[in-house]
Amino acid sequence: MPKLTQLKRSIQGKVALVTGAASGMGRATAFLFADEGARVAAVDVNRQGVEDVVAEIQKAGGEAQGWPLDLRDPKGINALVDAVRERFGGIDILVNNAGISRPAPFEAEAYEEGWAETIDVNLTAHVRLVRAALEDLRASGEGRVVNIASTEGVGAQPFVSAYTASKHGVIGLTRAMAVELGQKGVTINCICPGPIKTGMTAQIPDEAKEKFARRRVPLRRYGDPEEVAHATLSLVLPASSFINGAVLMVDGGMSIQN
Ligand code: NAI
Repeated sequence: MPKLTQLKRSIQGKVALVTGAASGMGRATAFLFADEGARVAAVDVNRQGVEDVVAEIQKAGGEAQGWPLDLRDPKGINALVDAVRERFGGIDILVNNAGISRPAPFEAEAYEEGWAETIDVNLTAHVRLVRAALEDLRASGEGRVVNIASTEGVGAQPFVSAYTASKHGVIGLTRAMAVELGQKGVTINCICPGPIKTGMTAQIPDEAKEKFARRRVPLRRYGDPEEVAHATLSLVLPASSFINGAVLMVDGGMSIQN
């Protein structure tokens, strides 16, 4: 049957750079993008984790290469983008997903260390990656950036102030990029996941997770990494060409429940 519409819902053949790809949502995103036919550049500070993810993608018949990198290293980011361009010929999709949480009360002696590390990984690395990949994203014609923020980007809880500030920053950065860079086909959006079962929440006991979800999440459960990966996929489709600067809550309704 001939197509009645114009826009494509496929990322087949696109080059997608995913950070934090060794675990949780980044891993699920790398897998989903590979399943959809994208060529995946998997980046993470966890070398073994990156190798494992790439091996799993290749075993399933997908295309991926891994780059172990601590995203706090600005030179490393520039070298990474050069290497991905050399390997795959460009970058169409960038998912700034890697993130850390270093809970600390304001009175903590080591507060500033945690603050600096959190802002570096959760926010500054995002800017550096977009700046480094900008020419490739423009050249793509369908360049897409998705930044992973959090429900802590629109609200706050005690003892995670650096994380909260970084995630509010990710939303601000997304909007600033969307208005300044949203030309030549590059769109920049962000996702605010709610509580998701990943490495970051692995130390929370199951009973505590269930109790929290019953009280706070209308869907009464934690989300799975793949559910966030699908939201990310939606935002990077060629067909999502008019979505720019959006802040998409993927939180089972948590943020709208009074
Ligand atoms: P995760 O801990 O399972 O995965 C994060 C990955 O980032 C890890 O593989 C880790 O090695 C990597 N990473 C950390 N620091 C890095 C660095 N300096 N350089 C390179 N890679 C580094 O956690 P999760 O939950 O999958 O986190 C993904 C994103 O989702 C993060 O930005 C996080 O803040 C965000 N998020 C998580 C939520 C949750 O409930 N799990 C809720 C809302 C947002």
